[in-house]
Amino acid sequence: MAKQNGKTALVTGSTDGVGRMVAQRLGADGWRVLVHGRNRARGDEVVAGIKAAGGVAEFLQADLSSMAEVRRFADAVRKTTNRLELLINNAGIGRGDPQGGREMSPDGFELRVAVNYLSGFLLTHLLLPLLKQSAPARIVNVSSLGQQAIDFKDVMMANDYSGMRAYRQSKLAQILFTIDLAHELDGTGITVNALHPATFMNTNMVRQFGTPMSTVEEGADAILKQAIGPEMEGRSGLFFNGLREAQADAQAYDPEARWKLKTLSLELVGLVPAKAS
Ligand SMILES: NC(=O)c1ccc[n+]([C@@H]2O[C@H](COP(=O)([O-])OP(=O)(O)OC[C@H]3O[C@@H](n4cnc5c(N)ncnc54)[C@H](OP(=O)(O)O)[C@@H]3O)[C@@H](O)[C@H]2O)c1
Repeated sequence: MAKQNGKTALVTGSTDGVGRMVAQRLGADGWRVLVHGRNRARGDEVVAGIKAAGGVAEFLQADLSSMAEVRRFADAVRKTTNRLELLINNAGIGRGDPQGGREMSPDGFELRVAVNYLSGFLLTHLLLPLLKQSAPARIVNVSSLGQQAIDFKDVMMANDYSGMRAYRQSKLAQILFTIDLAHELDGTGITVNALHPATFMNTNMVRQFGTPMSTVEEGADAILKQAIGPEMEGRSGLFFNGLREAQADAQAYDPEARWKLKTLSLELVGLVPAKAS
């Protein structure tokens, strides 16, 4: 039986893939786990597995492609718990079918930008008060080594679209956000880091269009180091490739690019009023 540690973790995208493994391992480690995804049947299965192993878990359903859903989800989290020591922004979609066209979110954003980046940006901001009152707390953004500089003239990639480019820009956006947020959270007791979990893990995302080269266990080890590793205490604003600290794309270290992305993101998700153009 897992001995409860009195702490609560939210793992987005934990109905499948590496997120599911992370949720199971946090449950076994005594965390109360908020399991999340769109698929209720798979979510209920993950919760049942954690409970069968003596842990505590609940499932919260939300489709993170819609910013209204992200807001409703954040409300549901706040109604479910008055403590949150760990937020893992893991939910994501891959590059999609190379033959497929540009996909859009219900809000009219490019779909990978919405699901992989903007949803985590908004969710994190909405949950910051809860994280602050629970500090020390950690935020982990599950990004990727697949990164490409954001073209600020065409952030939603209306031109020269490819799912790969969209995936890479959304994953780099998570890292720019991580570095910026780490500065903002300095002194609050909340740390935030980003990582590439492992290369071509054996998950749906990879199996759809490629050949797995690593396991979800390897990816989960890397995420859990960021999430609960004692060696990460007080460390913030970093990017890791698996278990090792690494350099992200150069754009992540450009303060002007980060400022542009932050200003735009706050407007896109409605956290500040959009400027009249
Ligand atoms: N696989 C790799 O080798 C690899 C490499 C580098 C980085 N990553 C990153 O690792 C993270 C997890 O990837 P994975 O390989 O484990 O993927 P996966 O097996 O496809 O799982 C993705 C998870 O995200 C959820 N999800 C997808 N779209 C969603 C949406 N619109 N709203 C809410 N939840 C959504 C899915 O749940 P539902 O289906 O229930 O909605 C599922 O739980 C991603 O951020 C990915 O970019 C993966």
